[in-house]
This record gives sequence, C-alpha cells and structure tokens, in this order.
Amino acid sequence: MRPPSRPATWRATGKEIMSTLKGKTAVVTGGSRGIGLAIAHALAYRGANVVITGTTEKSLAGAAHELESAARGGSVMAQAADVRKYVDVERMLNAAASRFGGIDVLVNNAGVGVFTSVANMSVEQWHDVIDTNLTGAFYCCHAALPHLRARGGGWIINISSLAGKNPFVDGAAYCASKSGLNAFSESLMQEVRHDGIRVAYVMPGSVNTGFAGHPSGEDWKLAPEDVAEVVTDLIAHPSRSLPSRVEIRPARPPKKG
Ligand SMILES: NC(=O)c1ccc[n+]([C@@H]2O[C@H](COP(=O)([O-])OP(=O)(O)OC[C@H]3O[C@@H](n4cnc5c(N)ncnc54)[C@H](OP(=O)(O)O)[C@@H]3O)[C@@H](O)[C@H]2O)c1
Repeated sequence: MRPPSRPATWRATGKEIMSTLKGKTAVVTGGSRGIGLAIAHALAYRGANVVITGTTEKSLAGAAHELESAARGGSVMAQAADVRKYVDVERMLNAAASRFGGIDVLVNNAGVGVFTSVANMSVEQWHDVIDTNLTGAFYCCHAALPHLRARGGGWIINISSLAGKNPFVDGAAYCASKSGLNAFSESLMQEVRHDGIRVAYVMPGSVNTGFAGHPSGEDWKLAPEDVAEVVTDLIAHPSRSLPSRVEIRPARPPKKG
C-alpha cells in the first residue's frame, strides 16, 4: 500500500531551513561559547549572516574565527556588548543592521547563574543575574523591534531554562530570572505576532557547557547542538502556526536514589 501523500507543510527539510535562513541576519547574544556559539554555528552553517556578542573581546574573536570556517554564504560579525547596558545593546544592533541591511532573528541567549541561598546572596549577585537574564533580554527586544518591524517580521527566540518552571534550593535569583523571562516572552509573543514577529522561548534542562563553573564533559547532559537544533527548527516552522514554548531535557539523566 502506498503511504499517504505528505502535505506541503509535513516537515521542514534541511533544504527548506537553508532557504529560510539564506541572506537573513541573526544576532545571538552570548554567542562566544556554549549554547550561544552552537546556535550561531547552526545559523551560519545554514547560510545566515551571524552577529555574536559577549563581554570578553578575546573569546569573541576566537569564536568569530571558528564561525567563519563554518559559514556557508553568510558573513560573521563579532561585537562586544554587555546586555546589562542599553547603550551597548543599541549600538550593537544598529551596527549589525547597518552592516547587513537589517535584522531578521534575535536570539537572547546571554545568561549567568549564581547559585546560593538568599541569605548569602549579595545585592550585586542578585542584580547580575536579573540584569543579565531578564532585563538584558528586554533591552535587546526593545532595541531590536524597530529593526524587525522594518523587515516586516522575524523571530525572537529567548533561551530560558527548565529552572524557570521548576524552582530549586539555592536557585532563587536564577529561577526568578528565567520565570520572569518566560512570562515576558509570552506577553511579547501576543503583543507582536500580528506584526509578523514570532516570539518563542526554549527551556533546556542541563546542558554540557561550563555554565556558572559547572563541570563540562558529562555525557548524559544535552549537547549545546541539541538546543541549536531546536532554534533552527523553530525558524523553519511553517508560518501558519507558532510554537511559542519548547521544553528540552536529557533523555536519560542519572537515576535519583
Ligand atoms: N548550561 C546549562 O545547563 C543551561 C541550561 C538551561 C539554560 N541555560 C541558559 O542558556 C544560556 C547560555 O548558557 P551556556 O551554558 O551556554 O553558558 P556559558 O557557556 O557560560 O556562556 C554564556 C555566554 O553569555 C555571555 N554573557 C554573559 N554575560 C553577558 C552579558 N552581560 N552581556 C553579554 N553577554 C554575556 C558569555 O560571554 P562573556 O563571558 O564574554 O560575557 C557567554 O558567551 C544562558 O541563558 C543559560 O541560562 C543553560
């Protein structure tokens, strides 16, 4: 028996993702290592111009060099910009738009984690987490919206965390920042979807990076590339529907107890 014919929107193929991204410009905050670098890599490999940001010039330069060899048709730009500073964010987005003629995709990935009790957390640590993970995403969205509107639409993808819905001891600031990011993303999604701007947030579980001084090299964790694949799948998703929240977790974490 012949299988039923597939509707046109059956599944975005690699080729379709490629054509979705070819000639487009994507900004990835915190693109110098870890999940952000994997996302930048996936976007560059699929033909996009990619802009990566971070606060450390040296690691940005190394990451840009690595991305240039992965790029297929697009260009790579690295610019230091601290997402906690609106002036940095605005300057970076304006520079990206003027170099590439516009911005189509913003991935708010820059993030930090401080894991300690509320009693022991300093005021500076609290601000560092909230200002980077939550206010930083607001700054980037606020400054990017005019650019996305000028293009007639685009994507904003916020890298949140399962910590945003599963709070844990010593995670008060981090969990609050990601929970806030989830609510922010859902509000923004409803605000801008009529303008063709598609907002989604991705909530990964443990990812094998050096985040917050965590040991890397634990094979049971997600790979940064797993999160990157979710991002490129979102961008390739048929335009009639909007997957606005994605959870992704390790398939086989160590058993407890
Ligand atoms: N790893 C995990 O298990 C995990 C799980 C769920 C969600 N996440 C989320 O995924 C995102 C990336 O995490 P990761 O594991 O890839 O972390 P990572 O390896 O520590 O990388 C963090 C990136 O963010 C940049 N960054 C930090 N503060 C910044 C600031 N103020 N302005 C601009 N860039 C800044 C860093 O560059 P500089 O140091 O040069 O500034 C770096 O490029 C974060 O939002 C994190 O909360 C991670």
